Amino acid sequence: MSTLAIVGSQWGDEGKGKIIDYLAVKADMVVRAQGGSNAGHTVVIQGKKHALHLIPSGILSEHTVNIIGNGVVFDPEGFFSEVEQLEKDGICTDRIYVSDRAHLVFPYHKTLDALYEAARGADDIGTTKKGIGPAYTDKIERSGLRVCDMQDPESFHRKLSAQIDRKNQIVTAIFGAPPLDKEEIVARYLEYAERLRPRVRDTGVMVYEAVKAGKKVLFEGAQGSLLDVDLGTYPYVTSSHPTSGGFTTGSGLGAGSIRDVVGITKAYTTRVGKGPFVTELENATGERIRELGHEYGATTGRPRRCGWFDGLVVRYSARINGTTGLALMLLDVLSEFDELKLCVRYDYKGEKLEHFPASLDVVAACTPEYRTLPGWKRDISGCKSFESLPDKAKDYVKAVEEITGVPVKIVSVGPDRTQTIVREEVF
Ligand code: GDP
Ligand code: IMO
Ligand code: MG
Repeated sequence: MSTLAIVGSQWGDEGKGKIIDYLAVKADMVVRAQGGSNAGHTVVIQGKKHALHLIPSGILSEHTVNIIGNGVVFDPEGFFSEVEQLEKDGICTDRIYVSDRAHLVFPYHKTLDALYEAARGADDIGTTKKGIGPAYTDKIERSGLRVCDMQDPESFHRKLSAQIDRKNQIVTAIFGAPPLDKEEIVARYLEYAERLRPRVRDTGVMVYEAVKAGKKVLFEGAQGSLLDVDLGTYPYVTSSHPTSGGFTTGSGLGAGSIRDVVGITKAYTTRVGKGPFVTELENATGERIRELGHEYGATTGRPRRCGWFDGLVVRYSARINGTTGLALMLLDVLSEFDELKLCVRYDYKGEKLEHFPASLDVVAACTPEYRTLPGWKRDISGCKSFESLPDKAKDYVKAVEEITGVPVKIVSVGPDRTQTIVREEVF
């Protein structure tokens, strides 16, 4: 079995897209199993930037089959606009298949996402407004429509019309907002159904056969572990399972199907949207990290909140994912600082916490205890091997290993494919 899950160790945007693209050269198949168009995975190849949201980052490798699995909430509008952009960039999109069991995102999900957020006022979550929460709500509430429902235009028309009527009641009666245009939406989705038809498969069978045949299969996590609806900083989370367990359910495989798990981990910490963040730096250092790391969301353009490396977060993430190795990303961003801090434990009203707590009230009241290391103060973006890194940068990597208990197998020193140091092959 040659299966590897790529998970985000923190709150997303750790550089998953870069590593997927790097490893996809060797992969037969790349699978997305959760989330939707809320993801923003940036891949830089020879200076050219590609931003992927719903389409797996494996699309940039010519031979790789790309799967959008049953656990994804599939937004046809976003999907086809991504397909068009890729085709414009000269990238063939024929190798993308979509699960017949994936739930569909409709315009009313996006409308409701925005209305619910506005209604939360100061307590808003800071969602991407891509309709993710409302689409997963419908799935769990058992009123969602799936890709397989598109097969028969007549019954799809009927089911979708009924849903729009129900959602329009909520939109108009509860929020006093204008209703959505039923005829326009139905007509548009009937068109999407036709365009999508050649790509629709029972992708669970495809993934199972590939795994069984010993093919190299990569699972591309979207979001990050701390955004997991069960295990993350609830309610400031997304509505799916971005942890390795979610990748088996979300692709239709059994629990033992994933051999290795690489945690994609920023050398510092960022998050977009709201929620507590113990190592956040609301000062000039945080701003400098944002500037150096170009920390602005790939999906919404929002500035990301920045802070020091939080060892509790990554240790927690390693535990809940069964992480077998880390890829330490954006190490180059820390090159100019005199000293660097890594959080080793939290202090909660005098009590020392080694494990990430459940209650956000507790998290919000925690202060970080840091290990401080001297900076290396040298450009490392051209380093091609671990040995060629300055000793102080190596010490930083070792500290991450010690604090998290997981070996750092990959070190990334820039956005390009070539700026990747592999210490131990992971795939
Ligand atoms: P993802 O959502 O986990 O795929 O991450 P994003 O693409 O949203 O954010 C990561 C950003 O960091 C992107 O702009 C990448 O091009 C960039 N990036 C990835 N690895 C490195 C690195 O090692 N150094 C630098 N400077 N940038 C990187
Ligand atoms: P990638 O795959 C970072 C965050 C949003 C918000 C919360 C809920 O690029 O790492 P949602 O729209 O999912 O209901 O928003 O989750 N969020 C992300 N943050 N990276 C992402 O994806 C994210 N996807 C969602 O900012 O706080
Ligand atoms: Mg991202």
